[in-house]
Amino acid sequence: MTEGTSRRFLLKTAAAVPLAFTFGLAISPMLRFLRPTIKPLDLLGPSDQPAPLKEVSFDESDFPEPWTCLPFTFAQTYKEYNPEGMEVRKVPGFAVKLPTGDIVAYSRICPHLGCIFNFVKDHDEIAKGYNYAFAERPMFCCPCHLSVYDILNGGKVVSGPAPRPPRKFDIKKEGTKIVIASLEAGGIA
Ligand code: FES
Repeated sequence: MTEGTSRRFLLKTAAAVPLAFTFGLAISPMLRFLRPTIKPLDLLGPSDQPAPLKEVSFDESDFPEPWTCLPFTFAQTYKEYNPEGMEVRKVPGFAVKLPTGDIVAYSRICPHLGCIFNFVKDHDEIAKGYNYAFAERPMFCCPCHLSVYDILNGGKVVSGPAPRPPRKFDIKKEGTKIVIASLEAGGIA
């Protein structure tokens, strides 16, 4: 190696060090942008999906007749890099027995702007209180901007500004036990 070549090599190396350092500083935030709860450099770590904190369950006998509606609170944990290692959020829900005999469960958080909606059985109350005169059965009704959801049709929005049905819970049956297993993925609303 001539003197000129080795000087060039030294200069190139000196220029590469800060570049490598900058790249190293940038890569961690980029990875966290792609997967926000990733541990630094732990690309293959466990799933960061929210998990139920504790089981919520009912028995079939808790639903003696169609349109029995039971409220519950579902707590789920989100991985966070705080001292506790997680954050707990509580999602209020309704479990409803449909006339078909199926039991369905929905988050009560309105997908419009996040108010907590009600289960309303009375046709007049839905018509006068929530501005929807065509209800032939109980509906979920939001008091904030009057969105109305048809429970029998998968929570379809039948009135008001809500952009989509409320989020659904997955239900598992274990004999006569009905377990609220997990919440459909998505934002809090
Ligand atoms: S928050 Fe429910 S309709 Fe607006």
